[in-house]
Amino acid sequence: MNKRILVTGGAGLVGSHLSAKLLEQGHCVVCMDNLSTGSMHNVAALLAHPDFSLLRQDVTTDIMLEVDAIYNLACPASPVHYQADPIATLKTSVIGAANVLELARLRHNIPVLQASTSEVYGDPHVHPQPESYWGNVNPIGPRACYDEGKRGAETLFFDYGRQYGLPIKVVRIFNTYGPHMHPADGRVVANFIVQALSGGDITIYGDGTQTRSFCYVDDLVDGLIAMMNSAPDVIGPINLGNPGEFTIRQLAEIVLELTNSGSRIVHRPLPVDDPRQRLPDIRKAHELGLGAADPVARRSDAHHCLFRDDAFKT
Ligand SMILES: NC(=O)c1ccc[n+]([C@@H]2O[C@H](COP(=O)([O-])OP(=O)(O)OC[C@H]3O[C@@H](n4cnc5c(N)ncnc54)[C@H](O)[C@@H]3O)[C@@H](O)[C@H]2O)c1
Repeated sequence: MNKRILVTGGAGLVGSHLSAKLLEQGHCVVCMDNLSTGSMHNVAALLAHPDFSLLRQDVTTDIMLEVDAIYNLACPASPVHYQADPIATLKTSVIGAANVLELARLRHNIPVLQASTSEVYGDPHVHPQPESYWGNVNPIGPRACYDEGKRGAETLFFDYGRQYGLPIKVVRIFNTYGPHMHPADGRVVANFIVQALSGGDITIYGDGTQTRSFCYVDDLVDGLIAMMNSAPDVIGPINLGNPGEFTIRQLAEIVLELTNSGSRIVHRPLPVDDPRQRLPDIRKAHELGLGAADPVARRSDAHHCLFRDDAFKT
């Protein structure tokens, strides 16, 4: 059945692709965004669609909408952006979550999905990270506004689930990249590509042995939709990401090779609380048959598609 679906943060990297996919599936999409890190450009192609509407609103303000389901994505995802105004980031996560949950409750318990993050694991002592791991987060460090904000949002989701029987879904997203990434995103994929294409130095923070995994945005979107459509008893949290692991040094070398760039690799000190390792344990997603869980068969095979032609259109 076609639904009217609210996507908060719908003008960002993930939200714009999710909105496009939901429209493709015949749903109506209401995109709510304050355009702080997202842009009109990301949704320009959707604006002409009769079933798409853009609402310029901050998720921390009261939401009154007639919708049948909610994806809550509103929140800056890159450290550069979420640390620029840490108080706003924390409020966006926690008050934003409270607002979408209240809307879901007032709409007679419609399903609501929270875009949580691998950052809830902090600098993990367990590798790879299963959902059962409670994490290692510094609650007062510069990343805490995001990590603790997302943890607080998860808590609210589970409390609304227990207290009101709200059909909640929580996914923990690992590094995702693709078209509509902001060139000044500040995270490693954007940094390296911009640096290589402009011929500037490629900056590695630390010695480059720290690891990350990278998921192509379309795979993540498939996972989000599969999670939303999963059985009512599947509430999560569920890790979504690509289990292929790279060292940052390897990533820099691949970027140099594929862009044929003459850029040099230079090293800078690691930022405070930067995690050494980040790798999803996606066995749960596999068991549930969620889309993003099989990167080999899909698009997140990093060597194959990290640098697809369209991977970095802004
Ligand atoms: N991209 C990733 O690697 C990644 C990893 C883990 C989690 N996530 C989560 O997925 C979601 C989407 O991430 P993204 O990569 O698309 O980030 P993004 O920055 O591209 O998109 C976030 C969107 O939310 C909007 N927004 C921010 N604060 C808002 C507010 N107070 N009210 C309304 N809109 C607001 C922004 O303008 C932007 O359009 C975020 O919640 C993020 O925490 C993303």
